[in-house]
Amino acid sequence: MSKILVIKTSMIQEEKSISTALVNRFIKYYKKKNQLDEINTLDLNTVEMANITMNQENFNDKSFFNSEHSARYIEQLKNVNKIVFVSPMTNFNITALAKNYLDHILVADKTFSYKYAKEGASIGLLPHLKVQILTTQGAPFGWYQWGNHTKYLEGTWNFVGARIAKSINICGTKLHENSNLMPEQLIDKYDLEIKLAAEKF
Ligand SMILES: Cc1cc2nc3c(=O)[nH]c(=O)nc-3n(C[C@H](O)[C@H](O)[C@H](O)COP(=O)(O)O)c2cc1C
Repeated sequence: MSKILVIKTSMIQEEKSISTALVNRFIKYYKKKNQLDEINTLDLNTVEMANITMNQENFNDKSFFNSEHSARYIEQLKNVNKIVFVSPMTNFNITALAKNYLDHILVADKTFSYKYAKEGASIGLLPHLKVQILTTQGAPFGWYQWGNHTKYLEGTWNFVGARIAKSINICGTKLHENSNLMPEQLIDKYDLEIKLAAEKF
């Protein structure tokens, strides 16, 4: 039996959120295949930690890394086998909630060995994790050469030692052809891709 943690990071209202429909569909297929697995959700909208941004004051007095906001969530990662991480593109990157979360769990000697020792020589300290990244973006893939939130997430989770499953990136959610579709209807277009990924994960 595996323990799965679904980390949701979209600021879009659940019923209107395409990334929420995407993760719901993924989990539906995952559950069918892995009926005994334990699945928990961390919705970053609802936790104080993810709403706190690192700044001069809280970094300097170390309160940003207090155990309730940092160690607790690192511990959570140590106690699960798989992560499903969901993020829409927001101004060419992951959401601010997602970034705040990563800032709290990317801690030297806790989730990776020291990163400046030698290029490429850092060691991820969460090698037990397997991560499925699910992303959405309003524009078609490649429109913004400087923004690839999917790749950023793959690199970041790989940095902490996780094995990365092939990501699903649903692009063009804001295109005219998708504008009249409900999130579920848009996700229907990707149903087979999602099913295959969920069964493999
Ligand atoms: C504040 C904001 C910023 C956004 N920035 C981008 C962006 O930089 N590039 C892009 O392709 N889409 C952008 N979008 C579109 C979203 O990525 C897209 O609509 C996404 O599907 C919304 O999240 P959801 O999947 O949870 O519904 C933005 C949307 C919002 C609300």
